[in-house]
Amino acid sequence: MGLQEEINRRRTFAIVSHPDAGKTTLTEKLLLFGGAIRVAGAVKNNKIKQGAASDFMEIERQRGISVATSVMGFEYEGYKVNILDTPGHQDFQEDTFRTLTAVDSVIIVIDAAKGVEPQTERLMKVCRMRKTPVMVYINKMDRPTGDMFDLLDEIEDQLKIKTRPLSWPINSGSDFKGVYNIYDSSLRLFDPSITEIEDAVEIDDLSTSKLDELIGNDADTLREEVELIEGVFPEFDHDAYLDGDVAPVFFGSALYNFGVQELLDSFVRIAPSPTKKDAEERVVMANESKFTGFIFKIHANIDPNHRSRIAFVKICSGKFERNKNYRHMRLAKNFKFSSPTAFMASKKETIEEAYPGDIVGIPDTGNFVIGDTLTEGENLHYKGMPSFSPEMFRYIENADPMKAKQLAKGVDQLMEEGVAQLFTNQFNGRKIIGCVGQLQFEVIEYRLQHEYGAKCRFESLPMYKACWIEADDPAVIADFKKRKYQKMAVDKQGRDVFMADSNFLLQMAQTDFKDIRFHFTSEF
Ligand code: G4P
Repeated sequence: MGLQEEINRRRTFAIVSHPDAGKTTLTEKLLLFGGAIRVAGAVKNNKIKQGAASDFMEIERQRGISVATSVMGFEYEGYKVNILDTPGHQDFQEDTFRTLTAVDSVIIVIDAAKGVEPQTERLMKVCRMRKTPVMVYINKMDRPTGDMFDLLDEIEDQLKIKTRPLSWPINSGSDFKGVYNIYDSSLRLFDPSITEIEDAVEIDDLSTSKLDELIGNDADTLREEVELIEGVFPEFDHDAYLDGDVAPVFFGSALYNFGVQELLDSFVRIAPSPTKKDAEERVVMANESKFTGFIFKIHANIDPNHRSRIAFVKICSGKFERNKNYRHMRLAKNFKFSSPTAFMASKKETIEEAYPGDIVGIPDTGNFVIGDTLTEGENLHYKGMPSFSPEMFRYIENADPMKAKQLAKGVDQLMEEGVAQLFTNQFNGRKIIGCVGQLQFEVIEYRLQHEYGAKCRFESLPMYKACWIEADDPAVIADFKKRKYQKMAVDKQGRDVFMADSNFLLQMAQTDFKDIRFHFTSEF
């Protein structure tokens, strides 16, 4: 198979949701359909029940043993499907955001009864920033829900994306009868006692009496609703989906394996394969013959005796080959990888080659940081991973003077893995850790102790936001830095960051310095 054919059959995506909407359940059902796993229960739920660091570490340990769960690849109907796992806990959303830079599309799972929840909104915002194509799966139709037209309105309103139902449910809760597939004109009936897939019934014309025989009184409602859909929603526009402007919507019940196959079948047909990716220097097409890729995730081995890590490379163009020399742009050094691994659902294996859309794991002893680019020699840098302003800030101090070196090394490496963000105050030189949630601080403390033998102490720092600043005139920045010298820090890339104590002080700064643009993400 040629490069283009290999690219065309790749589908690399992430499933995202607010916790509990059914991401884990859906992932597992997709893997079952893909034949990647045989029995349910194989996908570990990455939920943290108590919200404690030790809980999180236990989950990580289990995952560490089979790093494979980070990427689940399988073959389906001639397609190579790669599902990228994202952490469920909201304190680790930054990790999810980074993973989203490595996917070509996203499936958002929404709980039919709960509708759009806060994390769904944040995740969608990131997808919009990159114009990532989004498909929506409305889950838990076996539970009582509100009106589905209202839910679609809510999605359009809150997620700021147009929707287009490609299937439509017949009732919900205990009256849930099944789903009519608008795309294929077929009907699948729901029976909670059966979890295998029954054949769908072809419905050429909704006026057929067969429909009345199958679903009785609900047939008329379905006819009306489908007519309404066809009247209200424009025809499904594939290009608009690929541009991230419209989200096709599917309904089902992941728990009962219902509506999952339709989702997967439609997904492989309409979801994009890799096409291109922006680098600082130029746009790189996936079908260019030379290999390029970037690191979007680093997974530390949790076993303290083996401080090895795995760097996850997303292949962006060309063919990746084992034992070939590749250029590490940031270090300006060549590397050869003798044991790159691919992730096929529950196992990982050494591979000889990989194609755009694939994720390859390479053992790393500390050469990589998130965002690094690899090429065949061309001077290219894939656009940075976005960092979002953290929500919580703490000074980090050494609590064991004998272990200062270990602490410095540990902090460095954890930040390279993207566990949290590090800022250095330019006025007093103190290190500030920025996190999204409390759990991250606990994990840092735990890992510093268990993996590096270092002890840290956090000191509270009431701070509102970290803002990356930008201005057309360097003198304006210089003046601002002079005036706000106590509040200036640099991030780990050395970029200037204004640490705003409060919303009020931020607004004051924005009013006083009209020529400065204050950004809440590092990518602008
Ligand atoms: P998440 O990864 O998005 O956090 O959600 P997960 O799949 O873990 O699902 C959250 C809960 O919702 C689970 O129940 C799961 O069984 C249930 N669930 C998922 N899909 C459906 C569905 O289609 N219908 C119904 N009725 N429930 C669904 P739990 O009790 O929290 O977990 P567990 O203890 O049973 O594993």
